[in-house]
Amino acid sequence: MFSSIKRIVYNNSRLSIHNITSTFTFRCFPTLVTTRKNSSIGLSTTHLDTQSNDFEVLQDSMEHDSSLPSFMVGYKNGFLPRQDPLVRLPDKFHVLDLLLQKMPIRLQSGEPGLLAKGELGEAVKDLPLYEVSNITDQRLLSALFRDYTFLASAYLLEPCDIMFREKKDYGIGRQLLPKNIAVPLNNVAKKLYAFPFMEYNLSYSLYNYQRVNPSLPITYPNLNLVRAFAGTPSEHGFILAHVAMVAHSGRLVQWTMETLNSVEQQNRLNFNNALKNLNDTMFLINREMEAMWKRSNPDDYIKFRTFIMGSKNQPMFPNGIIYEGVSDAPLFYRGESGANDSMIPCMDNLLQLTAKMPNNPLTEVLKDFRKYRPTNHKEFLDYVQRRADKINVRGYAIKDANSATLYLENMDQIRAFRNRHWNFTKEYVIKNTAHPFATG
Ligand code: HEM
Repeated sequence: MFSSIKRIVYNNSRLSIHNITSTFTFRCFPTLVTTRKNSSIGLSTTHLDTQSNDFEVLQDSMEHDSSLPSFMVGYKNGFLPRQDPLVRLPDKFHVLDLLLQKMPIRLQSGEPGLLAKGELGEAVKDLPLYEVSNITDQRLLSALFRDYTFLASAYLLEPCDIMFREKKDYGIGRQLLPKNIAVPLNNVAKKLYAFPFMEYNLSYSLYNYQRVNPSLPITYPNLNLVRAFAGTPSEHGFILAHVAMVAHSGRLVQWTMETLNSVEQQNRLNFNNALKNLNDTMFLINREMEAMWKRSNPDDYIKFRTFIMGSKNQPMFPNGIIYEGVSDAPLFYRGESGANDSMIPCMDNLLQLTAKMPNNPLTEVLKDFRKYRPTNHKEFLDYVQRRADKINVRGYAIKDANSATLYLENMDQIRAFRNRHWNFTKEYVIKNTAHPFATG
């Protein structure tokens, strides 16, 4: 059956939306304007229709289509990328690919890599300044973004890691990102509407896995890591434990939408069923999270955390970072953080908890984190918040004893997540460091 769909077309770093005829029947495009601005480098991502109250979740992940953004919220892929991440870069980029393979402190062979002895800074001098302006393939752009952000963070924080290993103090990072990293990174970031810095979804975590057996589902034992800083089992476990949790998010998206639809239709039976399934999904996500303790040793986290620090509000970068060939003014970015994951904000928004967050600096920080998400995730979260508030999900739940209980059970899953998360923070971070700043 032929249907008219909207297709995003990339044109000089701005998105435009076109109606085309396609053989596919799916609903997939975001409907809200998102602005991810960085005035110092003129990055603007304002696009698409602002006023619509609708959000179209991907029915089919369109795995063979690399012209669409990697991160689009779908019933199958949830908040993971639509296509499995591209693992190796094409031959044209072999110097970059090789550099990243030789970079980790501990290589797969067990030998020390470039970061082990502080040799990355020198090795970066041999990296060509690759031309990326003509690339439109979204899968390749995502892989390049992941790889350049890994290289940038490793380069900028290499001196801090060495000092931290010796003195438990980070000292000062490199203040200038050379143009053979800065220019292509900035170009790729613009095309993806991202900041030119490492982030949770687009690089460190959710774009950094490979299925061992591509025909089997995304589960922890079926995952390999693509890029690493430390190259240790704990780093592998830390990153992939996040991916294994987010692998359940397709169902989270599905039951979020069912919850919203059933309130709109005033269908109590469907509403209770949706809340019950949402609760079961959150239970699975929390159970997966609990496995973090055995997948990543709490005493190791601090050893690879140096490389995921940001340049904003961090003493290692008192004057930010100069991106050579991009901006004469220093740039400041938050570091990688699970705070950019979309699952808990989705639940907060659906159950109308976001508006009840206290008015304090931490809430402000969490709001700022929202900019560090793929555009389509942000649009989905905004949509869930707007629609849940409009139809009053909470109000509908408390009108019926069964619904109210199910609503509370879901709140309890969020509580369980945050309680465990606080225990992680104490055991992995606070116990092991005197540095009073988190990565983000
Ligand atoms: C050992 C494991 C973990 C540690 C040490 C840890 C640490 C932290 C820290 C320090 C923050 C504060 C913000 C910042 O990064 O600067 C944070 C925030 C956050 N992290 Fe994690 N995290 C861990 C695992 C996870 C996992 C598995 C998830 C879920 C995918 C997650 C999701 C979040 C969220 C949603 C926030 C924002 C706070 C909130 O909404 O409650 N974290 N994390």
